[in-house]
Amino acid sequence: MKLYGFLIFCLAFLAGVQGDDDQEENITCDPNIHIIGGKLTKSNGNALDSVLKFQCPESTYPFPVSHTKCMRSGHWFRPYHRRHKPACKEFRCPMPVLEGGMFRPLNISYAIGETVTFECYDGYMLQGSVSRTCMKNGRWNGTMTSCNSGSQYCPHPGIPAGGRKSGSIYMIGSKVEYACNDGLVLVGSNIRQCLESREWSGREPSCQHKSSFDTPGDVASAFTASFTSMLGLTQTGEGKQPASTARRIILAKDTPLHIYILLDASESVGEANFEKAKNVIQNLIDKIASFDVRPKFGVVSYASEPITISSINDKETANADEVIYQLENAEEAKYGVHADKRGTNIHAAFKKVMEMMVLSKIIYKDSWEEIRFVTILFTDGKSNMGGDPRTAVREIKDFVIAQNKSLIDYLDMYSFGVSDDANMLELNALSSQKHGEKHCFIVKNTLDLIKAFDEILDLTQIGDLCGVADEDSEESFRKRHPWHVVMEIPGIGSCSGAIVSPGWVLTAAHCLKDVQTKLDVEKITVQVGNNFRLNRVEEVYPHPQYNLSGLLDEKISQFYDYDAALLKLKNRINFSETSSRSICLPCTRETTRAIRKPFPGTSCRDHDRELLPKTMPVPAIFVKRDKGRSESEAAVKIKTSDALRDACEANALHAEEYKHVTDVRKVVTDRFLCTGGQEPTAEEVSCKGDSGGALYVEKKRRFIQVGVVSWGVINVCDTVNPDKKHARDFHLNLFKVLPWLKERLGKIMTFID
Ligand SMILES: *[C@@H]1O[C@H](CO)[C@@H](O)[C@H](O)[C@H]1NC(C)=O
Ligand SMILES: *[C@@H]1O[C@H](CO)[C@@H](O)[C@H](O)[C@H]1NC(C)=O
Ligand SMILES: *[C@@H]1O[C@H](CO)[C@@H](O)[C@H](O)[C@H]1NC(C)=O
Ligand SMILES: *[C@@H]1O[C@H](CO)[C@@H](O)[C@H](O)[C@H]1NC(C)=O
Ligand SMILES: *[C@@H]1O[C@H](CO)[C@@H](O)[C@H](O)[C@H]1NC(C)=O
Ligand SMILES: *[C@@H]1O[C@H](CO)[C@@H](O)[C@H](O)[C@H]1NC(C)=O
Repeated sequence: MKLYGFLIFCLAFLAGVQGDDDQEENITCDPNIHIIGGKLTKSNGNALDSVLKFQCPESTYPFPVSHTKCMRSGHWFRPYHRRHKPACKEFRCPMPVLEGGMFRPLNISYAIGETVTFECYDGYMLQGSVSRTCMKNGRWNGTMTSCNSGSQYCPHPGIPAGGRKSGSIYMIGSKVEYACNDGLVLVGSNIRQCLESREWSGREPSCQHKSSFDTPGDVASAFTASFTSMLGLTQTGEGKQPASTARRIILAKDTPLHIYILLDASESVGEANFEKAKNVIQNLIDKIASFDVRPKFGVVSYASEPITISSINDKETANADEVIYQLENAEEAKYGVHADKRGTNIHAAFKKVMEMMVLSKIIYKDSWEEIRFVTILFTDGKSNMGGDPRTAVREIKDFVIAQNKSLIDYLDMYSFGVSDDANMLELNALSSQKHGEKHCFIVKNTLDLIKAFDEILDLTQIGDLCGVADEDSEESFRKRHPWHVVMEIPGIGSCSGAIVSPGWVLTAAHCLKDVQTKLDVEKITVQVGNNFRLNRVEEVYPHPQYNLSGLLDEKISQFYDYDAALLKLKNRINFSETSSRSICLPCTRETTRAIRKPFPGTSCRDHDRELLPKTMPVPAIFVKRDKGRSESEAAVKIKTSDALRDACEANALHAEEYKHVTDVRKVVTDRFLCTGGQEPTAEEVSCKGDSGGALYVEKKRRFIQVGVVSWGVINVCDTVNPDKKHARDFHLNLFKVLPWLKERLGKIMTFID
């Protein structure tokens, strides 16, 4: 009888399924679902398979679940217990754990804003933060606190708040293991080993709330730190660098770099977010390429299947500019190209990366081992088909190790979860675990990701690259124009200049007209950087052909041809300290890199064509100081075409000194660039103290000096109601003094022919 009953049950079940199928189109879920204190979005209304996401305001998280889906049964899946109405709950920080000390106040958990203070027992030394405050994302700020007795080989490894540790022997080779309390997820290394260097292997663990996220600031600083150190671009404070990251210092600037980007195109992402993510990636690619590295990009988007947008082995298309173009325009980069968006097949996406990597090994042969590899995974949820992505990640690691064990150092795998329900554990397992570095991030939404990436690759960290400036408009003026200096020079008063290397400033020769003796040179002061730190000059080198009175015979009292000078500084400028940085000079190897042209293979003529094209007026900038001494940017246009140039230069004869000159070519040689004018828009012109400053252009987020501000037709600053009609500025064209620049600076930078 029992068997019979079971059969009937089975049949009924089958019939039920059958019936559901018939009505598939009509299945709808409860439209009245809501969350207390929050909002929700549905990917497809109340229809079958629609994904519903709860959204909560800052410092809260959706409870008991962050998302659900409309099932065939007509119910939203993950049916929360009836007694748990969906609600936004405040984050709380878990209780800290401290061995060898104590902390106050004591509680099971802590509200946002609460602070605990730590103290170690006698004989123990406190490491980490003395007090920590519970932050809006339910995490403690500062660093893990531990009490170190000093009696063992490695220091106490600490215990994360909300976690526990097993193992209490800290000798070479000893291991400790971590776990987190219920409801918390371990991020970082769950096992750490005491190394010969007296450090613990892997990355400091933390126990995080499932719904906890990284703030844009967290992401930016952690990603920047690990990414830039991978590139070997951070300035390494001596002795500060832990032994295990020492390898990073050996990386040369021009090491090849292969970056794989995996972009989620699954249903729950939605087209709008997909497009936003593409923009974020374009921005990131653009920023990475502005480093002095030679990155190639492989970009894959994935839903149920991966689709290659850019193959890393395609010589033509894997460079930054081309990939940005592809992302914008290519058919493969469209959201709609994914026929089945229901799946999130991270496994297959990593497999695609693996394929490209294997092929690159065949193409690059022995030089493959010099390549640094980076994978950056973007996902909004968890992998739900195609197998365990961890195995695909493992294969990639194994492949790299199989070529050469030490190459694992050259592989960095980052994961970005964008949404509340990205699975921290899974992301952690798909990311590198490297000493002191964070590779896995969860941000709340695309907007935060955009914010984070805007902050990412903070260009202040990248060593001595020329022509990089902080783009953040909130930064101080000097940080946005870090090469700009103001000098006080005997006889002339103030002049401007541009830092072209840590030891050299480029300015106008006429600024030195009264500098005759060694004593005069010593009186020159150079104000550098944000704090206007004073520097002194060791030696001045005006251009040898500069001769202000060179046309005296022809009754021309001032002649500015070759108006350029280099000043050698007494003390090299510390770029990391003063928010100072050099500007790029034309026809150098560094500038070739900056404008993303091949080196070797790019000529000085190519630079000229790129930076000063004749086809239209070239937008350029110089730094201007008004009478109140505040600095601002003057946007001008260099008149490069023959006709505009002639028209611009003709105004020179309106200068007081040149009124009697008949041939403008006499005073305006072809070593000048002309800017200013009222048409089509009124352009700014320089004032006295602006002389010597850089006239520069922006290319690919880098700044390249093309001229030295030399002289103007009309002094618009010291005149009341000046007639600006003929106001024009003349700047010494750096392309015309390259042999001199090379003679003076050829030892510290490479000039190209
Ligand atoms: C399902 O919808 C179709 C058309 O939308 C309608 O003809 C049909 O009667 C509906 N079935 C049920 C069971 O509501
Ligand atoms: C622990 O935290 C709860 C909730 O914030 C609070 O009501 C309670 O007073 C705290 N207990 C102590 C001992 O501070
Ligand atoms: C933690 O945050 C509090 C409050 O914002 C701040 O006063 C404190 O300096 C922070 N501590 C650390 C170590 O960042
Ligand atoms: C592995 O790579 C390291 C670093 O690039 C190199 O020094 C070493 O010689 C390589 N080993 C083999 C077996 O190729
Ligand atoms: C500058 O030119 C004048 C006139 O040609 C000449 O007498 C003088 O020697 C020149 N000075 C220098 C430093 O060459
Ligand atoms: C430059 O400044 C940084 C930060 O203050 C400092 O650590 C470093 O020692 C300085 N380098 C030199 C060469 O002075």
